[in-house]
This record gives sequence, C-alpha cells and structure tokens, in this order.
Amino acid sequence: MSHRSESGFEFEPVYDAGTLDGFDPEAKLGEPGQYPYTRGVYPTMYTQRPWTMRQYAGFGTAAESNQRYHQLIDAGTMGLSVAFDLPTQMGYDSDATIASGEVGKVGVAIDSIDDMRILFDRIPLDQVSTSMTINAPGSVLLLLYQLVAEEQGVTGDQLTGTIQNDVLKEYIARGTYIYPPKESLRLISDIFAYCQTELPRWNTISISGYHMAEAGATPAQEIAFTLADGIEYVRTAVAAGLDVDTFAPRLSFFFVARTTLLEEVAKFRAARRIWARVMRDEFGAKNPKSQMLRFHTQTAGVQLTAQQPEINLVRVAVQGLAAVLGGTQSLHTNSYDEAIALPTEKAARLALRTQQVLAYETDITATVDPFAGSYVVEALTDKVEAEAVELMNQVEEYGGAVAAIEKGFQKQEIEQSAYRISLEIDSVERVVVGMNKFKITDEEPYEPLRVDPAIEAQQVARLAKLRAERDQTEVDEALAELKKAAEGTDNCLYPMKRALKARATVGEVSNTLREVWGVYVPADTF
Ligand code: 3HC
Repeated sequence: MSHRSESGFEFEPVYDAGTLDGFDPEAKLGEPGQYPYTRGVYPTMYTQRPWTMRQYAGFGTAAESNQRYHQLIDAGTMGLSVAFDLPTQMGYDSDATIASGEVGKVGVAIDSIDDMRILFDRIPLDQVSTSMTINAPGSVLLLLYQLVAEEQGVTGDQLTGTIQNDVLKEYIARGTYIYPPKESLRLISDIFAYCQTELPRWNTISISGYHMAEAGATPAQEIAFTLADGIEYVRTAVAAGLDVDTFAPRLSFFFVARTTLLEEVAKFRAARRIWARVMRDEFGAKNPKSQMLRFHTQTAGVQLTAQQPEINLVRVAVQGLAAVLGGTQSLHTNSYDEAIALPTEKAARLALRTQQVLAYETDITATVDPFAGSYVVEALTDKVEAEAVELMNQVEEYGGAVAAIEKGFQKQEIEQSAYRISLEIDSVERVVVGMNKFKITDEEPYEPLRVDPAIEAQQVARLAKLRAERDQTEVDEALAELKKAAEGTDNCLYPMKRALKARATVGEVSNTLREVWGVYVPADTF
C-alpha cells in the first residue's frame, strides 16, 4: 500500500507504516566506515575533510588546457580531471585522417610525451591527484603521466589519481572502445598488475554508471549494470592470478547525480551495500578497503537545458547536494552553459563555487549520512537495492556482463528506459523547467566559447616535427617488443612505456595493438 508523506511525497514503504518496526539498523546500516558501508566508506566522512572538488576540464591543445588547470587550481579545485579529445580517446593521432575535425574539440589533444609534458607544465605531480577520462588507451595515457612525473623526479609510489579504464560501459554506452572484450579485459588486468607493482596508490579503474545514466538508465539500472561490470573486472583479475585484497582496494566507481535528490541518495547507499556484500561473499575479500565502494559523481549533464541556461545553476546545486548527502568521495559540478558549448572560465568557476558553498556554508558536512534512519530514504534505499539486485541476476543469467553485452541486454534495457523518459517529457508528465513548462520566448542569445579550428593544423605540425626528431630505431624496436607482448602473455605496459619514452605516439602504440588484437564490431552493426 502506498503512503503519502506530509509533503505529499507518495511512495511504497518497505517497512510497517508509521514506524520503522521492520527495520534492523545493525543489518541494514551498520556504522559509517564499517561493513556494509551503507552510511559511507569512512567513519568521519566530511567532518574532517570535504569530498574532492574535481572539475572535469580539457580542450584544444595541451597549452590551453594547462592554462585552464592553473585557473581551476587558483580557484580552489582540489583534484584535476582531464578531458581528452575523441581522437585521443579512440587511440588515433591528430594527423590521422579519421581525426580530422575532432582535434581538440571535446577535450585536449594528446599525441605524445611532448604534449603530456606541456599539459602538466608547472603542476607538481606529487601534490595533485589527477583523474584521466580515458578508456581503451588508458594504459598509454597512464604511462605518459608516469613518464612526465619521472621527469619531475616524482616516483610511482607518490602518484595518486585514476584512469577511467572501464571499456565494458563503452560497449554499452558512449562508444570509445577499440579492441574486442577479451583483449580489453586482458589489457585492464595488465594495468591492475602493473599498478600493484609500480603505482601502488593509483586507482586503476573508475567503473562508470554515469554514461549509462546519461543514455537513459534508471537509478537501479545505473548501479546494477555498473556493479555487474565491476564483477566482470574482478573475475578477470582473479582469473589472471591477482589477489583480490591487493587490487580491489584500488577499484573505484563513477555515478551521476540527478535532480531527484531523495532517490539519488538512496541509490548511492544501496550501491555501497550491494558491492560490500558481493566483495565479501562472492570474492571472499577480507580487506575492508576491498569492500568499500569509493566513487566520483558528476551532476547530470542530460538534465541541463539550453533554454534559460541560468536555471542550470539551481539544478546543479540540487544535484551536487544529492551527491554529497549520498556520500561521494569526489565531485564534478557541471557548468550552467554546458548544454550550449564548452564552459567559459566564468561558468567553470561558478560550478566550483557551487561545491564550495555546499562544503563551507551549509552544515551538511557536520553529520555523517544525515538521512540515516529516514523513513523515506531507508525505504527507497531498499527499493533501489532490490531492483538493482534483480537486474544483476538477469545479467548473471546471460553469463555475466560481457555475455549480456554481446546479447545487447543492457543496451536494450537502457534504450527502453530512455524512450519512456522522452515520452514523459513530451507529455509534460516529466517537467523540465524552461523547456517544456515555464518557457519564455524572448531569450537573449548566449555567446559560447569556441575552440580555434587552427589548433588542428598546429597539432599536425607538432607531430611531423616529433617524428622527424626522434630516434626511429628505438621507437621501432620498442613497438616490436610491444607487439610480441600483445601476441603472448607478457604484461604489455613495460614495452609500451619504453616506446612512449622514445616518443612513440598514442596512435602508433594503439595501432600496434589493433594489428594484433583487431577491433570490436558491435553485434547490432549493420
Ligand atoms: N577518512 C579517512 N581517510 C580519508 C577520508 C576520511 N574521511 N577522506 C579521504 N580520505 C583519504 C582516502 O583514504 C585517500 O587516501 P588513499 O589514497 O591513501 O587511500 C585520500 O584521503 C583521498 O581520498 P579519496 O580517495 O576518497 O578521494 P580522491 O578524490 O583521491 O579519489 C576516487 C576519489 C573516487 C576514489 C577516485 O577514483 C577519483 O578521484 N575518481 C575521479 C573520477 C573522475 O573524475 N572521473 C571523471 C569522469 S568525466 C567523464 O567520464 C566524461 C564525461 O562525459 C562525463
């Protein structure tokens, strides 16, 4: 029987009406920083230190992005987050035919160690944590980052940060995959093994639900398909002989924060509880850090409107609040103009200021998991958990995440949900303020930031110069070693690092692996 709360909020309580009689705090909640981590992964959460304010940024050439990073650091950002352009994300050089028109557009163009050195110019890599949104070529950009750190005299055990490195969700949504699933999973477990030895504080993967959510996934689908991907990665690493309590503490996650705040808080709490149970019960993980689901959140880009863009400031504030009340470790707040174009410096600063108001002017950091015991949020946490577990079981019936992907299961589920959402928006059952309700007609035009098209020519010229200057024999020998490793079972990252140090390019390294492993062709490609 559904209930209507004082505020008129209608929901199906899981517990007896009026009380929490059916609710066992011990089993369901535990203490903050203790299994099953429903209330958060750390005992003190934000009472000692706020979450990491980590604004996703990058466009044009390495020099332009480096300038934006210094602006963000000066504005108080606590961690860096690199956006790469599509050619880099797909493992192509800026002078590849397929790259034309995309160089430096949705992120920064990185072709070689030369560009990486400029990207982090005057940024001490032993003092920042850097996230890199890079998947199929994740190993390449990680090694370029390590090489630049070494040039700064920074050793691997001092480096902190994350590579997204989550190719399974690229097959489901977003699309920046290169190799077939088997080879992608092999490379990902090579990265886990390499980081265990060389970069022990590095978060090796950011298992992402964000892009599936942006494609239309419901909260339950978002966490179910993300955790199912996580289970596939853990199974792969265990099968490759890695010890779960050694690599699992360095797994991390990435989710969206929608404007539906109560349900989103419940979603994050449910995700932590499911993951803790899976790691303890399926994988026998004993290390508490193996059971903790640490995650980054980005506010929902798909909910931003181009109409009356200032309204997005309000949406992002509510979404950021949802992420924090849900216990995020790291947060990106979208700029209000992002539905129109790349964020201006002012819009990017305002997005960061939103986080600073949440952290330093409100009192939400004074209490760990403020919603604990809340009638509606505990009920919603159980509800989202039950729905997510049901979907995870369906993925298991296919034989796990890869098998389900190859059958198109996750994609179909998300597309159906996206269709429902678009019908609800069309019928105004789902209100989008300024877009399908409360509209205005006399909007003044917004002047977006534009990326200078000349940067493509600049980048191509830099590549020609690099190829003319480098020791080609050294590059060829290193790429041949990489090819041999890819054909065999040796860890690919060691020869890859040698090639990149000799100024091999992102495209050359990726093409070497393409030659050996081929590329993924989706089942539904006609
Ligand atoms: N008590 C005890 N210790 C605490 C603490 C507390 N309350 N708070 C923090 N700490 C410690 C942590 O243990 C950690 O120490 P360790 O590294 O030695 O373990 C250190 O302080 C840093 O804390 P966190 O690890 O919690 O925070 P980070 O910010 O360093 O890491 C993360 C957060 C989620 C684990 C990490 O993986 C991360 O930063 N992810 C970011 C991913 C990201 O930015 N992605 C962008 C995607 S954009 C995209 O995909 C494209 C676009 O289209 C959307």
